[in-house]
Amino acid sequence: MSRSFIDSRSSSDPLRRRLRRLSPSERAEEANAFLDLYFREGDADPSDRASRQREVRRDLERHGFYRHTTEELAFGARVAWRNHGRCIGRHVWKALDVLDCRGLTEPDAVAAQTFRHLREADNGGDIRPTISVFAPVTGDQTPVWIESRQVAQYAGYLETGRVVGDPANVEMTRICVSLGWRPPSTRSHFDLLPLLLRDAFGRRLVYATPEGSVREIEIRHPHYPEFASLGLRWYAMPLVSDMILTIGGIDYPCAPFNGWYMATEIACRNLLDTYRYDLVNAVARCIGADTRDPLWKDDVVLELNRAVIASFRDAGVRLVDHHQASAQYLDFDRAERANGRMPSGDWAWIVPPQSSALCPVFHHAMTDLKDVPNFYRSRATDGADLSLSRVTEERGRILTRADNWRRRWRDWRRREI
Ligand code: ARG
Repeated sequence: MSRSFIDSRSSSDPLRRRLRRLSPSERAEEANAFLDLYFREGDADPSDRASRQREVRRDLERHGFYRHTTEELAFGARVAWRNHGRCIGRHVWKALDVLDCRGLTEPDAVAAQTFRHLREADNGGDIRPTISVFAPVTGDQTPVWIESRQVAQYAGYLETGRVVGDPANVEMTRICVSLGWRPPSTRSHFDLLPLLLRDAFGRRLVYATPEGSVREIEIRHPHYPEFASLGLRWYAMPLVSDMILTIGGIDYPCAPFNGWYMATEIACRNLLDTYRYDLVNAVARCIGADTRDPLWKDDVVLELNRAVIASFRDAGVRLVDHHQASAQYLDFDRAERANGRMPSGDWAWIVPPQSSALCPVFHHAMTDLKDVPNFYRSRATDGADLSLSRVTEERGRILTRADNWRRRWRDWRRREI
């Protein structure tokens, strides 16, 4: 593993600036509500609840933080996923593998476990949703954290007038190079970036991705052999590493997690967005699309999705298409309501970027309650809105009833017109 660092203690702490700001009473309230939920839904003995709540209250008063048990942590991480309104794949939230890595506090150990996570969650292609939870913030102490957005991602090199690689990672690439990372001698569009960590003092450390840790899939099209000449590839598993897990008033800034890909993430967004790989014209040439036809881009996006889906299937790696994912989201929504909970959904994130109205989620009303536990990036963006949702089971029913009345009222008015 290669490593090097610069001291960045002098600049104001970039992690601290991202953390949610909670008053002691808000923190205590979140802790209490989390334990209520845990003892109600989790498999702990309900008769232990009062004493655990007392203990946590005391720790919070004395130290400003408390430690979750391994069971509370596992439950909290799963509920954080369940509450996260932007994820379409939450029907399997209960199956999240939670690795309690709080004991690994040294940067080398964090990097090694993160790469192990990458290999093990791959599970021979049958990707297992997994989260590695490292040390939380404790009072004034911030732990080691990962600055890379994802553990596997491609470099972006700014060359005169164009970007080679992923434009989303130009800045990250520049930082890694300045810290001593050496790109391959011939730069390609798909060079894996090293992992960028910050130690407990805010110093940066670079860890080259060990050979063989990242599975990559070459994108081929089942009917257009010309596709191969584009040399497209993508990594098999998104391992998101820049989100903060917040559970019961405790923040875990280093908690990389993965699911499996939905094809549109790669085919519609990463490879086609104009500010990403911007490949719409290249793919159009490849499939011989007629650019005088106003729908030529639709042909491109369709064939690129077909290629991504077929390539993952041929490689034996799990991936979901947007139709199936939408149906699974509705299963999740129904199951949550059946359990007396209001599911959170952020419509603009849940609705797939392709064939939107053909997916049932397009026609489905949803609200994001922004409840905790949850995941967030920064208090400046998504973190500030998170709070204990007052939408309880009761209110859930009332809201549903209100929805029904609203619908009837609307239908009735329509009839009048
Ligand atoms: N959209 C991101 C990407 O394309 C990945 C986000 C997480 N996706 C997932 N399927 N769990 O890399």
